[in-house]
Amino acid sequence: MATTKAIRYETMNIILENLESALQQGLEAVKTAGAIADVEKIRVDFLGRKGSISTNMKGLGKLPPDQRPAVGKTANQVKEKLAEAISERIRELRESASATGIDVTLPGRRRGIGRKHPITQVIDDAVDIFRRLGYIVVDGPDLEDAYHNFDALNTPPDHPSRDAQDTFYLPDGRLLRTQTSPVQIRIMENQKPPVRIVAPGRCYRRDTPDATHSMNFHQIEGLYVDRHVSLAQLKGTLLTFAHEMFGPDVQLRFRPHFFPFTEPSLEYDFSCVNCSGKGCSICKQSGWLEISGAGMVDPAVFSHVGYDAEHYTGFAFGMGIERLAMIRYNIPDIRLLYENDIRFLQQF
Ligand code: DAH
Repeated sequence: MATTKAIRYETMNIILENLESALQQGLEAVKTAGAIADVEKIRVDFLGRKGSISTNMKGLGKLPPDQRPAVGKTANQVKEKLAEAISERIRELRESASATGIDVTLPGRRRGIGRKHPITQVIDDAVDIFRRLGYIVVDGPDLEDAYHNFDALNTPPDHPSRDAQDTFYLPDGRLLRTQTSPVQIRIMENQKPPVRIVAPGRCYRRDTPDATHSMNFHQIEGLYVDRHVSLAQLKGTLLTFAHEMFGPDVQLRFRPHFFPFTEPSLEYDFSCVNCSGKGCSICKQSGWLEISGAGMVDPAVFSHVGYDAEHYTGFAFGMGIERLAMIRYNIPDIRLLYENDIRFLQQF
């Protein structure tokens, strides 16, 4: 009789021991878990439907009815202790995450693939076209002196563009260049003809920003000096550029103009790439898009850099990069180019 009783209690004791060791294992695992996700896994492993507590409780039915309440009570206590430890650990992990500002349990953030700004794309493409035409890319300083930005470009001291209303001056008399044309001077000062360069870069003017004006914008300057350089070659060069940039059907036209550093001077237009010259809202029904200015280098400019105007001629041109970008991508407002709104930039 005594032996049977001992056997009866043995099964119960095994279950109780198993429950106790599951509790210890569970508590240990919870204590060392480093992430909320790990704690959640422990919850499933121990307290889940197929977890170790439930598995142990399968033996409950085999016990005599008088032993079941005691085992059931212990099982419930084990579950409660584990559940409490789990909640406590999750709270701790949340707190330490917010203390460091990093929640290591959050999923990773997707980073979009970067791309070139439309201004950079246009500069790169323009430079590519001129390289194929034999031009070398050069650079000049944004911070210029009045000599290179104005005097050497034959722009007299009383010229309105030199006014403090139009140009950003520094207290020491230097200025933020208003155009890329001073790069022409810097190159010719250091190099004998032939010269064939393009100079992309930033320019600065005191302008009131609106849909087509910005205080900070970009130009590409072009200069070609050699014997027998002609206006016809300028026209061929700009037309080739127009075809490469906007397609083979684009036409070019010259209009007489004045710049201090070219003689003759002109402004040039491309036929509207939107309506092929028929007239639309983009070209204001004119069929043409103004690009910038150009002309034959004035002999007065050559005299500043020591070039012999009897032997050499040259042409020069400017290009507004924003203008080209706005035409190419049909951008209605120049300010969009500087706001760095990802939703805008992602389109290019
Ligand atoms: N620098 C002029 C501007 O900003 C553009 C320009 C006109 C450049 C004629 C030239 C040129 O090289 O020959 O409006």
